[in-house]
Amino acid sequence: MKNNTVAVFTSGGDAPGMNACIKGIVDYAFKNDMKILAIRSGYKGLIAEDFIELTPEMVKDNMHRAGTFIKTSRYHDFFKPEIQKKAVEILKNHNINYLIGIGGDGTYRGLIELKKLGINVIGIPGTIDNDINYSETSLGFDTAYNAATENIKAASESMRSFDRVFVAEVMGRHSGNIALNVAIASGADIVAVPEKPITADNICKKVNAVKAKGNNSPVIIVHDYYPYYDELLNKLRNVCKLEARSQIIGFVQRGASPTAYDTILGWSYGIHAIELCLKNKFGIAIGTQNNRIFDCDIEKSLTYPSNFDIDLYNKFDI
Ligand code: F6P
Repeated sequence: MKNNTVAVFTSGGDAPGMNACIKGIVDYAFKNDMKILAIRSGYKGLIAEDFIELTPEMVKDNMHRAGTFIKTSRYHDFFKPEIQKKAVEILKNHNINYLIGIGGDGTYRGLIELKKLGINVIGIPGTIDNDINYSETSLGFDTAYNAATENIKAASESMRSFDRVFVAEVMGRHSGNIALNVAIASGADIVAVPEKPITADNICKKVNAVKAKGNNSPVIIVHDYYPYYDELLNKLRNVCKLEARSQIIGFVQRGASPTAYDTILGWSYGIHAIELCLKNKFGIAIGTQNNRIFDCDIEKSLTYPSNFDIDLYNKFDI
C-alpha cells in the first residue's frame, strides 16, 4: 500500500524542461513510496478522467526531451464554476492527496480556484514567456530565447551579405522578455516589446538612423503580438525603399531541446514539489529568487508586478 497519491499535469503552452520536472517528481515520489498519477492533457484531461500511473521506467529518457510527454491543452471551460466543482469530485474520487500543476498564469488561476475548493495544490512555473512575475524565471524561457537567438544570428549572416533589413518575430505573448533577451544576445539593432509600445513609423526612423551610422543590415526583433507587423514590412519596402525580409521564428523556440539550465531547473522544481508534499505543505507556488528555489503563497503569486527588466531595456535602447 502506497503512502500518498500525487497527481501531476501540464497545461497551456508546452515548455522545455517540463519533462525533466516530471522526472524529478516521479523519481523522488517513487523513492518515498508515493503513488504518482499523470493527468493527461491538462485541465481537459482532468475533466475527462484521463489518468495514468507513472513509474520511473516511463520517465527514464525525459531529461533531454522538449515538450511534455503527458500532453497539454488550453481548456478555457475550466473557468466555469460547475466544471471546477466536477474537477474536485474527480480528484477526491481518485484519492489524490496533492495536485501539482506545471504551466503559466492560466494554469495558476485554475490551481488557485481548486485550492479555494479544498484541494492541496502546488504550482510550478512552466512557460517560455517567463511572465509568471513572482519568479525570476520559468521553465523553457532560457531554452526559448537561446533557440531564437541561434536562428536569428544565422539568418542575420545571410542578410548582411545582401545589405537587407531583417524583421524577426519571436514568441512571448504579452511579455517582452524573450524579445529583449534575443535582441541583446543576437546583436540586433531595434526591439519592439509590449511593455514599450512602438509604432511602425518610429521603427522606420530608427532603421534610418542605424543605416546613417553605416550599418546596412539593421535587425529588428518584434514580439508575436506586435500589432504593426504587416505595416512595418510594407513601410520598410515601399516608403523607405529598403530590401526587407522577415521570418517568424515560431515553434522551434518552444520545441527546442532544453538547455542544461532548464533541465536542471525543471528537475529541481520537481524534487522540491515532492519535498513539500512530504512535509504536508501545499497552496504553494515554487519559483526562483536570487537564483535559488523559493516558495510563494500561490494566491499571492499572480499579484506581483511585471518581471520585465526595464533597466536592461533602457541599456539596449541607448
Ligand atoms: O504561451 C506560450 C506561447 O508560446 C506564446 O509565446 C505564444 O504567443 C503562444 O503560446 C502560442 O500559442 P499556441 O501554441 O496556442 O499557438
